[in-house]
Amino acid sequence: MSILELSGVEKSFGAVQVLHGVDLKVSSGEVVGLVGDNGAGKSTLMKTITGVYSIDRGNVVFDGRDVTDSEPGERRDFGIEMIYQDLALAPQQDVANNIFLGREPTKRLFGIFPSFVDKSRIDVEARQMLDRLGVHVPGIDIPVGMLSGGQQQTIAIARALTFRPKLVIMDEPTAALAVREVESVLKLIRQMKEDGIATILISHRLNDIFESCGRIVVLRRGNVIADVNRNETDMSEVVSYIVGAHG
Ligand SMILES: Nc1ncnc2c1ncn2[C@@H]1O[C@H](COP(=O)(O)OP(=O)(O)OP(=O)(O)O)[C@@H](O)[C@H]1O
Ligand SMILES: [Mg+2]
Repeated sequence: MSILELSGVEKSFGAVQVLHGVDLKVSSGEVVGLVGDNGAGKSTLMKTITGVYSIDRGNVVFDGRDVTDSEPGERRDFGIEMIYQDLALAPQQDVANNIFLGREPTKRLFGIFPSFVDKSRIDVEARQMLDRLGVHVPGIDIPVGMLSGGQQQTIAIARALTFRPKLVIMDEPTAALAVREVESVLKLIRQMKEDGIATILISHRLNDIFESCGRIVVLRRGNVIADVNRNETDMSEVVSYIVGAHG
């Protein structure tokens, strides 16, 4: 059964229609690659899944529930996480705080005083999460802004996984990374698949797509041009879909 099912999704910004009736299904434990030229509508489509953008027409069904009109916070509670192109980390805050950013566990002293952020719990749980994922950072108490691009990317992924999502959307997670850092991100994706998490991976790097994804969806000018199994296609065919050689 699909964990995610989009049907007929249309989205315009003013007079410009960016998505023209997109259908997309994703199953649990499936890694789907979403590719397409700059401006094809990939990020916009993903934001219609997280609820950052409401849609003009169509439906978004997640985990058997129609979430078309649900707020982003609600969809996140249902199990949808997205790691954005710009990561949205807080560079001055330490690694542990970034993992819990915006969702910090709190505690109350004697149950009466106003609740405050439980920093020791944040540190313990952040450390556990990174160990479980096999992510190595110099320390959980150093500002995220001092980490490398690849380390920051793995922190963003760790943050997404901390709340046990059912679907994780990654927008260009490997674009700015060195070879070794790319490997650690792709390894995390493999681990997520084993845990039954559905993943949508957006990337311009077709090597990464072919290494990680069982299925590849090509978006062109807001239309799904191709939806193919990795084993039934190859890179040159996917490139021809992206650039429009197939009409
Ligand atoms: N908030 C917005 N307001 C107006 N237009 C937008 C907005 N967001 C995206 N667009 C337009 O929608 C189109 C698709 O943009 P989108 O960011 O979804 O493309 P993309 O496939 O993610 O591209 P890239 O590979 O460069 O990240 C572009 O023409 C863009 O200018
Ligand atoms: Mg984009």
